[in-house]
Amino acid sequence: MGDELNGRIAVVTAAGQGIGRAVAEALRAEGAEVHASDINARLLEDFDASTAQLDATDHEAVHRYFEQFDKIDVLVHAVGYVHQGTIEETTPQDWRKSCSITLDSAYNVIGAAVPRMKKAGGSIITIASVASSLKGFPRRAAYGAAKGGVIGLTKAVAADYLSAGIRCNAVCPGTVDSPSLRERINELAEQMGSLEKATDFFMSRQPSGRLGTPDEIAAVCTFLASDRASFITGQTINVDGGITI
Ligand SMILES: NC(=O)c1ccc[n+]([C@@H]2O[C@H](COP(=O)([O-])OP(=O)(O)OC[C@H]3O[C@@H](n4cnc5c(N)ncnc54)[C@H](O)[C@@H]3O)[C@@H](O)[C@H]2O)c1
Repeated sequence: MGDELNGRIAVVTAAGQGIGRAVAEALRAEGAEVHASDINARLLEDFDASTAQLDATDHEAVHRYFEQFDKIDVLVHAVGYVHQGTIEETTPQDWRKSCSITLDSAYNVIGAAVPRMKKAGGSIITIASVASSLKGFPRRAAYGAAKGGVIGLTKAVAADYLSAGIRCNAVCPGTVDSPSLRERINELAEQMGSLEKATDFFMSRQPSGRLGTPDEIAAVCTFLASDRASFITGQTINVDGGITI
């Protein structure tokens, strides 16, 4: 607990669980006034802050939601969806869903926040992934493409709004223990015939021999949100336990 972000207004999407929730809690612990949203309002019932149901893929709803803010100091966009498949296993529907949830949502949310950050400046953090333009992973065709797009958008926003005092960086996690990761392991276990094989598949890409935690991602987001990171913009910060050494 500290006061590094005292008085700062922070908006966090996908704050219902996993990384988004850990980020919302970490920013609040540093004194920020946190506004948390998620498509699933039920997941936010136990979060003691300003909360809202918001589907980040809905352009109009996102812009309506952001109208309440005169100023935003910190924006963390954590919405994303992992489709598991090679390009041959990816239907047009899978592809569209991946682009919509992972990339279109970033366009909607950052696009709505920037006009409210331009006057005073601030820090935008996208939760991208090492599975992106940074590294190819098996069975991540649509996901890797969409997250590569998030990184491209992050860098473009950083370039356009540097002079307005807005920094924009992408945090790129490795494999992090979250509710949706558990679902993916279970899904793969059905395809591979055992939970052990599916867990091994995910662990085999972790040189650290363990999964990351949402708190380890949140710690980097808190740093990027703070003035200590005031000279960092347009960067991808890998928090991956050595995947991209
Ligand atoms: N867990 C990992 O291993 C990992 C690795 C790299 C990157 N990431 C990225 O981190 C982010 C968070 O992932 P996670 O695994 O911690 O969380 P998660 O997948 O367990 O939870 C995601 C949250 O997003 C919400 N959500 C889904 N669609 C939404 C929408 N359209 N609008 C608003 N909210 C929506 C869900 O309700 C849920 O609360 C994602 O962008 C994911 O791609 C995760």
